[in-house]
Amino acid sequence: MTKIAIVGSGLIGRAWATVFASHGFDVAMYDIDHAAAKAARTHIGRNLRELAGYGLVDDPKESLARIRVADRLQDALKSVALVQENGPETVEAKAALFAEMDRLAPRSAILASSTSFIVASRFSKSLKGRHRCLVAHPVNPPHLVPIVELAPAPWTDPEVVERARKIYLRAGQVPITLRKEMPGFVLNRLQAVLLAEAFRIVGAGVASPQDVDKTIRDGLGLRWSFMGPFETIELNAPGGIPDYCARYGKSLTDMVAQSAAGDPFGAENVSRIMSEWTGQQDAARVAALSKWRDGRLAALQAHKRAARRKPNGQ
Ligand SMILES: NC(=O)c1ccc[n+]([C@@H]2O[C@H](COP(=O)([O-])OP(=O)(O)OC[C@H]3O[C@@H](n4cnc5c(N)ncnc54)[C@H](O)[C@@H]3O)[C@@H](O)[C@H]2O)c1
Repeated sequence: MTKIAIVGSGLIGRAWATVFASHGFDVAMYDIDHAAAKAARTHIGRNLRELAGYGLVDDPKESLARIRVADRLQDALKSVALVQENGPETVEAKAALFAEMDRLAPRSAILASSTSFIVASRFSKSLKGRHRCLVAHPVNPPHLVPIVELAPAPWTDPEVVERARKIYLRAGQVPITLRKEMPGFVLNRLQAVLLAEAFRIVGAGVASPQDVDKTIRDGLGLRWSFMGPFETIELNAPGGIPDYCARYGKSLTDMVAQSAAGDPFGAENVSRIMSEWTGQQDAARVAALSKWRDGRLAALQAHKRAARRKPNGQ
């Protein structure tokens, strides 16, 4: 049985443990805060029961039994095929963890980071085993949103990337592979542009944050559950993508050029947005909304599984 080590068992680490254990992998989980790793098991049990409720996991008890908590990093790394690192999002923390993981993991093990923005060359450059390091960036929560962005450093061995890709596929994920390093990879770069424009629109008084959310939730987002932006625009002009660009390209380019100025995430603009935002940041509300979101995502995943194939086998 293939064994995976989860290093760092916070929000993302415990979701990765859910992913791997529910797909038949043995999982060893380590966190510098031992209490956090033990508490993570309770969360994972809940995740697995929820997935089972939507038919996405057969036996939640059996899956949970595949996860053990290790008190020392070297114990978690014994005999692993892949290490999924989920520590703090700083170059210093990643570099320190990767140096330890490279020293302690079996020579054949793949070392993958969940980092959201940092390219692998920034924390693997001086390592003896730098050829086996890469980014494998998930989306929160990876047990319900399957994309994983594989982003190798220039020195990552292509054979390692391919081996990682096969492991994530076996774990029910949808891996994509970047051909060059770029901070933020694909997903967070797309998200950054969308968020910046949302903040600008509200900050300029054009629409309320609630109406911007509706525009995605009941507009663009509905199609995006099943089709990407290229697939979407192909259907929006009779001659496909080139026709779409011929018709609307100039308007799009003008809007993008017009939007580029200013700092949409600066304190002044954020306070404008918060003056209209009706939500309250209390922990109970966030927990209830997260639980509701996870249930809806699980239902959507179950639906997507049933409707996986497009017409004409595409
Ligand atoms: N939160 C998200 O939406 C999201 C999405 C995708 C990727 N990520 C990335 O995943 C990583 C983890 O994010 P998170 O949201 O789970 O953070 P988190 O704060 O919830 O968890 C981090 C965990 O790492 C542990 N830790 C700290 N130092 C450690 C060490 N030296 N060894 C072992 N464990 C250590 C902490 O105790 C904590 O439990 C980050 O790199 C983040 O950018 C986060």
